[in-house]
Amino acid sequence: MKKFLIIAVDGPSAAGKSTVGKLLAQEYNYTYIDTGAMYRALAWKALQLNIREDDEGSLKNLLLQSEISLKNVTKKNRLEIQIFWDGEDLTPFLRTPQVGMAASKISALPGVRMTMVELQRKIGCQGSVVMDGRDIGSFVFPKADKKFFLEASLEERAKRRFSELQENGLKVNYQEILIDLKNRDQNDRSRSLAPLVKTEDAILIDSTDKKIEDVLYLMIREIDR
Ligand code: DC
Repeated sequence: MKKFLIIAVDGPSAAGKSTVGKLLAQEYNYTYIDTGAMYRALAWKALQLNIREDDEGSLKNLLLQSEISLKNVTKKNRLEIQIFWDGEDLTPFLRTPQVGMAASKISALPGVRMTMVELQRKIGCQGSVVMDGRDIGSFVFPKADKKFFLEASLEERAKRRFSELQENGLKVNYQEILIDLKNRDQNDRSRSLAPLVKTEDAILIDSTDKKIEDVLYLMIREIDR
């Protein structure tokens, strides 16, 4: 087992980051950190408290006054991540298009992002982590030991997200998901602070026509190199 590495997995929504990130963490006995879930948790809380998506001061204060924690659990030999807000398990509420879009908007606010990034650095700085997000290799840990940038076509990502939501029992429409992903890509790539970009030293993997095992194999080969 390789010790103490920081492995960054960045890329657009539904490119397969969380699926492969969890498998990678299992492979090396590392902790998997889903930074998107952290933004989603704040977005969900803001929706509950009727805080506007552009109210940077209130969102930042809410974050500073709260405790976000992540827990890796293994169920039926599969690693899962749970996210707690002041001890309350928010995991079941976070993976909806509404929360995803709100997370994308609030994550563009510099005060929110800087507070969240500080927290992510604190959680990940000891290493032995696989951290999944948009700005991990470019901003949170620019000196990460390994950086991957996972891509997939918009249509393929929409298909995957559609199946995932359907499996979770949500009523979904493929076209709406495709448009939602397109808008989120646009938000995530165009914000001024820490936008979604592939850094020069990140290894690009296009997962459009690849099985998850093949993506995992490519990543392990790079890490063990
Ligand atoms: O990965 P996800 O779909 O759960 O992320 C939700 C939103 O959070 C995404 O649209 C952009 C934002 N995000 C971000 O800006 N930076 C990160 N490191 C992770 C997520």
